[in-house]
Amino acid sequence: MTSEHVPARPSERGLVSPVAPARALGWVTAPEWTAPAASAVDRAPLATLEPLQTPVDEGLIEVAADLPPGKALDLGCGSGQNAIWLAERGWVVTAVDLSAGALAEARSAAGAAGVTIVWELADITAWQPASRYDLVVSTFALPPRGMGRGRMLDMAAAAVAPGGSILVSEFDVALAREGRMAEKYLVSTEEVERHLDGFRVNRSRTRLARHRHGYEEIVVPVATVVATRRTDLRSPW
Ligand SMILES: C[S@@+](CC[C@H](N)C(=O)[O-])C[C@H]1O[C@@H](n2cnc3c(N)ncnc32)[C@H](O)[C@@H]1O
Repeated sequence: MTSEHVPARPSERGLVSPVAPARALGWVTAPEWTAPAASAVDRAPLATLEPLQTPVDEGLIEVAADLPPGKALDLGCGSGQNAIWLAERGWVVTAVDLSAGALAEARSAAGAAGVTIVWELADITAWQPASRYDLVVSTFALPPRGMGRGRMLDMAAAAVAPGGSILVSEFDVALAREGRMAEKYLVSTEEVERHLDGFRVNRSRTRLARHRHGYEEIVVPVATVVATRRTDLRSPW
C-alpha cells in the first residue's frame, strides 16, 4: 500500500471508533481501544433528563425595576417563573395558560417559593380579564397570526390600567427571513405597536438574546415592546 492509500486514522477523521471497524479498515492498534464504561448519564433515556430551567425574562426584570408593585397579569405563563418572580416582589399576580400541565408545574413551583398566585386555565385568545392591571406581561406566548393573535393583543392592551405598563416579547420576524421559523409564529415590534393605541411606547426594539426553553438554549432575535397607558387621554371604558 502506498502512502496515498493509507486510510486516515479515526482521530484524524474526528471519529472515535471501536476496534472492530478499525480492524476492517486494516489498522492494528496497540493497545486496543476499549469502550469506557457507560456513565449513568449515558444510560439515561432522554425522557429522564431534566429540562433546562427557563430563566425570569430579562425584559421583565428591567421593566419591573422601575415600578412599584401592584396588580400583574401574565398571559401564557408557562411554568410560571415570571409570575413567581413578580409575586416574590410583592405583586398580586394572575397568570393564565391553556396547558394544565404547565399550570400544575407553575403551581408547584409557586408553592415551593411560598407565594400565592391566581392561576387561570384558559385560552388567551378568548379569555377576558375581570379587572385591569398595573402590569401586563406576555413573553414568548403570542398565538400564531390568524389564530386569535389580534384579539389577544387587543385584550392585553385593554387589560392595562391607566398609567399601567405592558411588556410583549416574542421571537422576531427576522427568523423567518433566515428560514428558521414560519412567519406566522413570529412578530415585529410594529405589529405589537399597532395594538397599543393610547399608550406611550417606552421601548420597541429587536435584539439578539439567549433563549432557554425545554432542552435547548438558542441565540435568537427577540422583539420586545414596553409601553405605558397614557393617563392624559379619556379612558375607553
Ligand atoms: C414558550 S411558552 C412561554 C412561557 C412563559 N411565558 C415564558 O416566557 O417562559 C408559551 C406558553 O404559552 C401558552 N399558550 C400558548 N397559546 C396559548 C393560548 N392561546 N392561551 C393560553 N396559553 C397559551 C403555552 O401553553 C405555553 O405555556
